[in-house]
Amino acid sequence: MCGIAGYIGDKSASKILFEMLKRLEYRGYDSAGIACLSDDSVVVFKNKGTVDKVMKESGYEAITSKIGIAHTRWATHGEPSKENAHPHCDSKGEFIVAHNGIIENYRDLKAELMERGHRFESQTDTEVIPHLISELYVDSFEEAFREAVKRLRGSFAVVVLSAKEPDRILIARKDSPLIVGLGDSEKFIASDTPAVLPYTKRVLILDDFDYGIVTKDHVTIKDLQTGEEITKKVHEIEWDIKQAEKEGFTHFMLKEIFEESEAVKNAVKALPDIEKIAKKLKNYKRIYFLGCGTASHAGFVGKYLLERFSIPSELVLGSEFRYSTVNTIDKDCAIIAVSQSGETADTLASVKDARERGAYVVSIVNVVGSTLTRVSDDIIYTYSGPEIAVASTKAYVGQLTSITLLSLYLAKELQRISADYLDEIIDDIHSLPDKIGQILGNEEEVKGLAEKLFDKKIFFYIGRRLNYPTALEGALKIKEIAYVHAEAYPAGELKHGPLALLEEGVPVVAINPNDDLLEKMDSNIQEAKARNASIIVVGENGALKTPVIDPILSPILYIVPLHLLAYHIAVLRKLDPDKPRNLAKSVTVE
Ligand code: G6P
Repeated sequence: MCGIAGYIGDKSASKILFEMLKRLEYRGYDSAGIACLSDDSVVVFKNKGTVDKVMKESGYEAITSKIGIAHTRWATHGEPSKENAHPHCDSKGEFIVAHNGIIENYRDLKAELMERGHRFESQTDTEVIPHLISELYVDSFEEAFREAVKRLRGSFAVVVLSAKEPDRILIARKDSPLIVGLGDSEKFIASDTPAVLPYTKRVLILDDFDYGIVTKDHVTIKDLQTGEEITKKVHEIEWDIKQAEKEGFTHFMLKEIFEESEAVKNAVKALPDIEKIAKKLKNYKRIYFLGCGTASHAGFVGKYLLERFSIPSELVLGSEFRYSTVNTIDKDCAIIAVSQSGETADTLASVKDARERGAYVVSIVNVVGSTLTRVSDDIIYTYSGPEIAVASTKAYVGQLTSITLLSLYLAKELQRISADYLDEIIDDIHSLPDKIGQILGNEEEVKGLAEKLFDKKIFFYIGRRLNYPTALEGALKIKEIAYVHAEAYPAGELKHGPLALLEEGVPVVAINPNDDLLEKMDSNIQEAKARNASIIVVGENGALKTPVIDPILSPILYIVPLHLLAYHIAVLRKLDPDKPRNLAKSVTVE
């Protein structure tokens, strides 16, 4: 959470920095700010509100500087306000910092610095950084910066400017992502690749405990502890700039839902890796899927799939794993970590703990080169392309496809399914993009349904087995983007309590594939109908109609109309589905 950006070159820094922030806004959007160096003095503009709002207020066109840093915030320490917005300065205004992460020892540092006469203006943890640099400064910006960063505990990606050495931006990272885009005589620093895509496709990716000196012509990366220079590989970003644009769609979320057919095709590209990894996985006694939010729902489908093939498996949540499940992890365990961003703090921390205990870790990730890919034994990329809307949609479809393929290949390795059956299902997977296309072609009908439902106060989502996670995901979407209370239940559990909440007109979305549980689902639907609930069936004959598909693949198909439904309900409720309140896409704090 929080997006940071830096620019140094020959162009107007403020314009580029605001453009970069716009592309990082999915990381947080409660306040924004910019600091530029002009004639050896610093111009800082920051305020509460979105990047667009702050940008307009700042009169940025008038700032002619060619070097600057910027920040878009998701508040952790201190409410969203002008004072708490980044960048932050020391008392003399000589060092200016934008930061993503949490400085865990900020209270101790602040007390120490206050005793030495430093005055603080915000409630943030970040503000200790410029003060600490100022305190440690003798005659070298780099030395003071390095010594200051060495004293920080917690997580950080930082960019720092100083009027004392106006030809450089200093950067450092631990547990929060940071990249440097390489242009000719210009450099772009950012939390994530979409920010640099319009300018360059060549990037350096910082690792934990790296720090760097960025001038317009050079980037020098060094080790924080030893101060020795490190040679970094230049990565070529394969994403196209168009993938990070709305391309005529009203919202990124809608565009990304319409990319769900493509998400299946893209995930299938990793098949050679999936086959190799399945051969390794078969040697492990216990398999855990791990993830947070939507990614955990994809993992939950994985658990049901493996159980379907008589392979024991569990789903564990990133935020819970390291405080409990980890005690049971050893070298007989395999962890399949699922994450769009590859930067979710809880998932990363769990993976690190699991590896320390000898587990084999495979990651299913979208963002190439993300932190998770660096701490895993093997990687399966979903290749879904940049996902900008905060709520995950196409990446979920990609994750489900990868997980389904992995489960099938593992089942074949363990001789739980035949090669013929595998071929049959693979053919069905190839038919999914067209079938998703058919559902998307019915968007108007889904919109019509949304018009009937958008002012309802509560929704129920029910499903069984593989589609219980579909119910969870459908409910999560409507909660996060439409701010409607939604409950998801395994359909058989409805009568054990939640049925008491059902009354006339309450929408119950029933995910009902044509499988051996169809009759059981029908009974649960009747239970809700008898309480006059409004039933919306997702299935071959449902109001949210889906094409015929092998039930094993139904989670991939059945989530598509639910994504569309949540999207249209959010829009009808006059909300911005791309930027739900209080949330951020990449949750880099625990
Ligand atoms: C946040 C996002 C969700 C996402 C979750 C996990 O909560 O708002 O959309 O599912 O993080 O993110 P990851 O990048 O690990 O998939």
